[in-house]
Amino acid sequence: MVQVTLEVNGKRVSYEAPARMHLGDFLRDQARLTGTHLGCEHGVCGACTVLVDGAPVRSCISFAVACDGRQVTTIEGYDADPVMQRLRAAFTKHHALQCGYCTPGMLATSRDIVLRLPQADESRVRVELSGNLCRCTGYMGIVAAVMSVLADLRAQPDAAVEALRTAQAQGRGAAPAVEKPVAFAGFTPTAASVAASATTPANPANPAGTAGAAPAGKKEGRGSQIDGGFQVPFPAADVWAFMVDLPALASCLPGASIESHEGDRVKGRVAIKFGPMAAAFNGAARLERDDAAMRAVFRGAGQDSLSQSRANGDITYQLEALSPTETRVNVNLLYSLQGPLAQFSRSGLVQDFVRRMIADFGNNVTARLRQPAGQGEPLVQASFNPTAMFFSVLWARIKRWFGRGG
Ligand code: FES
Ligand code: FES
Repeated sequence: MVQVTLEVNGKRVSYEAPARMHLGDFLRDQARLTGTHLGCEHGVCGACTVLVDGAPVRSCISFAVACDGRQVTTIEGYDADPVMQRLRAAFTKHHALQCGYCTPGMLATSRDIVLRLPQADESRVRVELSGNLCRCTGYMGIVAAVMSVLADLRAQPDAAVEALRTAQAQGRGAAPAVEKPVAFAGFTPTAASVAASATTPANPANPAGTAGAAPAGKKEGRGSQIDGGFQVPFPAADVWAFMVDLPALASCLPGASIESHEGDRVKGRVAIKFGPMAAAFNGAARLERDDAAMRAVFRGAGQDSLSQSRANGDITYQLEALSPTETRVNVNLLYSLQGPLAQFSRSGLVQDFVRRMIADFGNNVTARLRQPAGQGEPLVQASFNPTAMFFSVLWARIKRWFGRGG
């Protein structure tokens, strides 16, 4: 549990919450602001949209702890907002809602359109609204409502709305003013905001995943993070020599293949298949090594040609000599996905999958060290059975759900 403190609709709220609780649940369950609706909980439908520091954010895919110290505005917080006053009247006039489930998110997005795109035409409004789904209205009334507010403001500018537009254009955010502002001391964003997205069960001797697995240079706020590791029954010097040999390293990574290699740089491909997710990322990576500390960072970026999703990430590994013949490799993966595959990036199953990949990678490294290549035999890529991997991860999770360990 972590203490999360936000300014919500002008009031300071502070509650303990699980590190993996998303902002939508935090607002509804902890702050009791149930006007924020949750639909898909995958970042697709837009029903959960709220403002964070004046910008629309999907609260179902934002960790509450990552918003610590920020200003959040929910549908309950727009009473005095000049744009929302106009939008409310326009939604009523144009019959822009039926069941109302999508409406809080639809209004938050509409407000952003009105502030950010004063000259938007109908097709632009439709594009901007395309991240908010409504299963009742057919969108006609919603689009008409937004268009009418834009037209009214063009015909007769409103100083209060212009002030919000100026603030937004200057990057100061356009959170609505609250009628009775409550003094709010600034907060330093917590260092836990990203680290909280990871759980660290891989090393029982190191349940916090700190020693060795928290290398210097850890970057906060860049995506999801997973810590793991494995042990290899070889001296640290031997393991290090292997772990900085890029073709050898890649041959142990399930699904990876190298197209070209020059010094510390490689180009290649990583194919992933896990349940409904299949992708083949083509990209490039670079290895930065610190031989004295036996620590390296493998920085890569790539794009999936099918979904056009982009991935980038750092794999940091640090060796720890447990004995003259035993070495632990602590691995930290920091990654972000953009595009259609982003919805999978934080799911628990995917994190389990990545940990399993790290464990398989460790097994492959051990096997390769036992039978070193270089005696005229080409390196053979480690085999990978995605179906078996999927079902093994799923089964482990089912066992955990039913309390049988895993
Ligand atoms: S509930 Fe957040 S986008 Fe659907
Ligand atoms: S009004 Fe029912 S989902 Fe939009």
